[in-house]
Amino acid sequence: MPFARLFHQISPKEIFNNTDVFTFAEKEFPLITAGTEDRCNSMIGTVSGFGVLLKRPTTWGMMREDRYTLELLQKAQTYTLSYFTKEFRARAFCAAGKSGRDSNKMKELALTSIVTPSGNIAFTEAKLIMECKLTQITTVSHDDFCRQEDRESLFETFKKEQLYRKMVFGEITRVWVQN
Ligand SMILES: Cc1cc2nc3c(=O)[nH]c(=O)nc-3n(C[C@H](O)[C@H](O)[C@H](O)COP(=O)(O)O)c2cc1C
Repeated sequence: MPFARLFHQISPKEIFNNTDVFTFAEKEFPLITAGTEDRCNSMIGTVSGFGVLLKRPTTWGMMREDRYTLELLQKAQTYTLSYFTKEFRARAFCAAGKSGRDSNKMKELALTSIVTPSGNIAFTEAKLIMECKLTQITTVSHDDFCRQEDRESLFETFKKEQLYRKMVFGEITRVWVQN
């Protein structure tokens, strides 16, 4: 089915017309997808923020540095966030158990990938798709946190895994809602 029959475009300003942004950020875990039709990868992510950065509508969240999705996202410089209704959430969560770097999880995912008009990969079952252009990646340092408990919690995680978190910022370039 052509993309335009499935989705219509809205402005980033309309995303939160009927939802409160705090509940949305806390409760909704999108599939973050990057790559091409031949080689794409998705992971479930916690997208923490939506706001305006350097005059652009922007979203951000933390990704562990070894995520395969992060590697593809850095190559492509673009990515999508696909949000699902309850009906499809369990299927989307299948992209969380293992890494696409050393598994066939994208083939096993019971969702239908679709190419957006700008060439990004998303899913036909999504209720909402945000297309993003990578704008900034910063390494999260526990030293930069002001609360002792946050510093300790991030330091403990880093000590255990020896892997940094990256704060990934993306400009929201297009937003699509299911018809
Ligand atoms: C509810 C939920 C939220 C998650 N949020 C994040 C996140 O914000 N950042 C992250 O790096 N991993 C997060 N993960 C873990 C990744 O989805 C998981 O490690 C995934 O297998 C990574 O896949 P990849 O290596 O193929 O990219 C989350 C998992 C779940 C279940």
